[in-house]
Amino acid sequence: MIIRTDNLSKYYDHIPAIRELSIKIEEGATGLLGPNGAGKSTLIRVLLGLLQPSSGDGTVLKFDIKKERVKIREKIGYMPEHDCLIGNMTAVAFVTYMGVIRGLPKDDALQRAHETLYYAGIGEERYRKIKEYSSGMKQRVKLAQALVHDPEILFLDEPTDGMDPFGRDEMLAIIKDISKKGKNVLLSSHILPDVEEVCDKVILINKGELVVEGSISELLENKNILEVRVKKDPEILLKNIECRYEIFGNTIKIEDYPDNIYSKLLKNAAENNIQIRYISDARNSLEDLFVNLLGD
Ligand SMILES: Nc1ncnc2c1ncn2[C@@H]1O[C@H](COP(=O)(O)OP(=O)(O)OP(=O)(O)O)[C@@H](O)[C@H]1O
Ligand SMILES: [Mg+2]
Repeated sequence: MIIRTDNLSKYYDHIPAIRELSIKIEEGATGLLGPNGAGKSTLIRVLLGLLQPSSGDGTVLKFDIKKERVKIREKIGYMPEHDCLIGNMTAVAFVTYMGVIRGLPKDDALQRAHETLYYAGIGEERYRKIKEYSSGMKQRVKLAQALVHDPEILFLDEPTDGMDPFGRDEMLAIIKDISKKGKNVLLSSHILPDVEEVCDKVILINKGELVVEGSISELLENKNILEVRVKKDPEILLKNIECRYEIFGNTIKIEDYPDNIYSKLLKNAAENNIQIRYISDARNSLEDLFVNLLGD
């Protein structure tokens, strides 16, 4: 386990941003999901010791988030949601500077700055001042500075924000590669397809509280929905089939159904002279699942 929290809360004045949050994050790539204002950025900042929690405890790489903040910061890379760059510096000077701040000797920091900027997709532009960069290029520099000291966990807060579709795909491919190479990633986003592409586990929070956590494949298991349209008698079509269903006119949405549902449906249709006009096995996406969970 790389991150753990116990009843962690953070209030801004009297307004709760995270409430009694108890989570466990294992090694690998985990998505931190939730709508705007859910508390994702606050949680990251509390975990990194940038904000003091109002109550509760937590550890990152077994270091206490209240007492061992410097140790945590040496071991993690953080790509913040908002701009953290110094516009008057060139990208290479800025990333080198960030490397030195995190304890690298100057020469090593310079070499690592070149490597990480190249890896993040910044070429010769690295010698230009950051204030002249587009939003997408700035995101890449933010990623490079998070990687410069070769951290054990990368905290990425909305890394594809402001990027065009091409840049977004590239950023996701880089994050996937980072994760494949064995680095732990916590990816905060409200863009579910981004998370689905990169992560194998997710934590969903809403209004500062945990809604669900687990592996994406397990969360989506048994959540397949079968949509069937008939000419008439939808109820009779489901005779003797154990499942959950909802009927909208002549359309039936079926969940939690047995493996052999197709043959049972066809048998009922034949025996009762029901015409099936359409069947589709619509696998739930993370998006469907979370809309359902947040809608409750
Ligand atoms: N510095 C602050 N002072 C007061 N309230 C704050 C502050 N930062 C965040 N909040 C409030 O705390 C709650 C959680 O905000 P937070 O930024 O952590 O959410 P988020 O999940 O990161 O949202 P987004 O997806 O919009 O980035 C919100 O209600 C927000 O208004
Ligand atoms: Mg945020």
